[in-house]
Amino acid sequence: MRLDKLLSQMQVGTRSQVKEYIRNGNITVNGLVVKKPDYKADEQKDHICFMGKALKFQKFTYYMLNKPSGVVTATKDNRDRTVMDLMQDAVGKDLFPVGRLDKDTEGLLLITNDGALSHRLLSPKKHVEKTYYVECEGTLSSEGILMLEQGVDIGDEKRTLPAGVSNVKQSDGTYSMLLTITEGRFHQVKRMIGAVGGTVTYLKRISFGGLVLDETLEKGTWRALRQEEMEQLDKQGG
Ligand code: URA
Repeated sequence: MRLDKLLSQMQVGTRSQVKEYIRNGNITVNGLVVKKPDYKADEQKDHICFMGKALKFQKFTYYMLNKPSGVVTATKDNRDRTVMDLMQDAVGKDLFPVGRLDKDTEGLLLITNDGALSHRLLSPKKHVEKTYYVECEGTLSSEGILMLEQGVDIGDEKRTLPAGVSNVKQSDGTYSMLLTITEGRFHQVKRMIGAVGGTVTYLKRISFGGLVLDETLEKGTWRALRQEEMEQLDKQGG
């Protein structure tokens, strides 16, 4: 694999950053400085160092995407743009989104090729927390909020599990709040709000499994997860 591609896959930096590191002589392969970004390196055999520190090849890659409204959470779609269309330059084979956000929902989406982690994070048994910033209209009473907190009938066999509600703000029939759920039922937040007399007008996921949306990411942009963020996810899916 090209050295610059391999280094960005190892999350040393973006493709342009790693090219810069290579040209500046910060990278050695088997003890020798390599200054060509297109140098063919072998990730299994070569000993690669960045500023004297040995790098380990990562089998999987992990990204956070700030999903904009208007794109579907799928790898392919015949009609709509998908979240993977936004990830064209991401390094790593067979990337896919972990879980689903509706076409009109924005915010944090984890993109990876680590099937086992995805499985753990989405398992109904693990109760991984997801927090949404919700704006809605309607008549949302304090009883309604209490129902969300205790578990609400959304027409499924079972009520939802208790949700966390915080930062409730109200002005002229519109409300905003943070809602934390530990399940992943179809249109769950919209149906929960609907069950207590509201209609969601805006929905954005701000955290998932301890991973918090980086608010400096513009809508539609993404970045590789940092080491501490990956460790956080690992703990949650445990
Ligand atoms: N709940 C919803 O209703 N929609 C989403 O996109 C995510 C959670």
